[in-house]
Amino acid sequence: ADEVLTDRHGRRHTYLRLSLTERCSLRCGYCMPADGVKLTAAERLLKPAEMLRIAEAFVLAGVTKIRLTGGEPTVRADLEEVVGSLSSLRPLGLEHVALTSNGVALRRRLPALRTAGLDSINLSLDTLDRRRFEQICRRDALPKVLETIDAAIDHGYADNGHLKLNCVVLGGVNEDELPAFARFAAERPLDVRFIEYMPFGGNNWSEAKLVPAAEMRARLLASGIALTPVDTHAHDTARSYALDGGRGRVSFISSMTEHFCSGCNRVRVTADGNLKVCLFGQRELSLRDALREGASTVELHALIHAALGRKHARHAGMHEIARQAVRPMTTIGG
Ligand code: GTP
Ligand code: 5AD
Ligand code: SF4
Repeated sequence: ADEVLTDRHGRRHTYLRLSLTERCSLRCGYCMPADGVKLTAAERLLKPAEMLRIAEAFVLAGVTKIRLTGGEPTVRADLEEVVGSLSSLRPLGLEHVALTSNGVALRRRLPALRTAGLDSINLSLDTLDRRRFEQICRRDALPKVLETIDAAIDHGYADNGHLKLNCVVLGGVNEDELPAFARFAAERPLDVRFIEYMPFGGNNWSEAKLVPAAEMRARLLASGIALTPVDTHAHDTARSYALDGGRGRVSFISSMTEHFCSGCNRVRVTADGNLKVCLFGQRELSLRDALREGASTVELHALIHAALGRKHARHAGMHEIARQAVRPMTTIGG
């Protein structure tokens, strides 16, 4: 089974990102096109049982971690059941179930998700200023997100260093908040991850609005914040740093200026059941169609292996990616 998820560059793909929905409760311009996205018709979206079949096939092939993404996963009323059903795959080798959420409507669901088997949460937060949040995300929801962060800590999601905040750094918009976010991390047991702005279809990316991770680090140093590198795993998207005397830490996700493709261990399945072997890959393969035509797990494995065989060693570079206009981020889940 080991070779199913190994590509021709020798990378083993043990991390599956499952997009649960194309819908979102926010309208962040860097993620969703201004005129919205054309939602896939319901019958073309994966049914819960189909999603579980696909997840099971991946776990049987060696996937040990599944992250649920969107859109925004909490728009699904059955999120707890989804987490519970995926948790049932643990005896087959699944070790970690994670969630990426905007945190707007997550607070009350934290206990049930924990009970269902959710191990960790990454929350998106690009600003600590309420007005600015509304400008970036087109909804006045910052207080809700802050409540969710506190509640996630209270419910133990931060206990093993697992609570992370994702902050997309947008040139001229929120880059002045790097020190404030570092202080936020110093006061709480969480990891604030500064992310380089990536180009996707309809998201208005330009190189001028990209703040390179090296520049982010320089800005923090210039404001008197010392960063001490800490070890990260070979497959991590982020490089992490401890803060002097701080509880949490800060990290940098430098997808554009210092890509981490050589350590890539990720595959993605979209809400409509397409396998994407790279975040920026154009080519997709419908596992939904294969399933609906009666494919067995062995046949799914053959399809997955063939798709991975076409995976490139690294992404094409920001200018080429921007030119291609990859499908909107909201429908991939990052
Ligand atoms: P962990 O599972 O905790 O390591 O988180 P993650 O960074 O993999 O996932 P998350 O959903 O929190 O995404 C944070 C940022 O990393 C987003 O901007 C994602 O688009 C980006 N990201 C996640 N996976 C990849 C990847 O495989 N390649 C690239 N280039 N970016 C990625
Ligand atoms: N560039 C970088 N990160 C992005 N995200 C969404 N769009 C972009 C983009 N254009 C982040 C979100 C979320 C994660 C899944 O992806 O902030 O935290
Ligand atoms: Fe993997 Fe593609 Fe991300 Fe590179 S850009 S780390 S190859 S998913």
